[in-house]
Amino acid sequence: MKKALILPVLLAMAPPALAGDTSPGALIEAYSAQSGSAPVPENGKALFLGKHVGGKPDTPSCATCHTNDPRKGGQARTGKPIDPMAPSVNPKRFTDTRFVEKWFRRNCNSVLGRECSAQEKADIIAWLSSL
Ligand code: HEC
Repeated sequence: MKKALILPVLLAMAPPALAGDTSPGALIEAYSAQSGSAPVPENGKALFLGKHVGGKPDTPSCATCHTNDPRKGGQARTGKPIDPMAPSVNPKRFTDTRFVEKWFRRNCNSVLGRECSAQEKADIIAWLSSL
């Protein structure tokens, strides 16, 4: 491999640093603007803690990995620890738009078998931010 190529390749392989381009409040605002209605934290709670069908059978709920108390750490199916979801205990949460979008897409598909709507995303972040 030519030397000039090594650096870009290494950079591309490095885990993406959190861009820190947003905040829970800014995301709630953006998703609410998209959906055209105010966030309802109680609906976010019900969605997050509830059991669903339509997704993968081994992940019926967001709580399957993130636990029933988002102030505590969870666990991926592989056993890998997941940091708490509530921004009050984990200030890194909901600060990187691309990261947030990527995981909403992946996890809503796993649990619900579809993507979450803008309304649902606003509801979930609003609930997590209230903890
Ligand atoms: C199969 C396990 C699993 C399930 C089920 C799951 N998640 Fe996650 N989630 C993860 C992992 C792993 C990460 C990435 C690692 C991390 O952020 O700590 C993550 C990260 C996230 C993030 C990124 C937040 C941020 O800004 O850091 C969001 C949003 C999220 N999940 C939402 C959800 C929602 C909503 C559900 C239910 C619809 C859900 N997750 C269900 C494993 C899961």
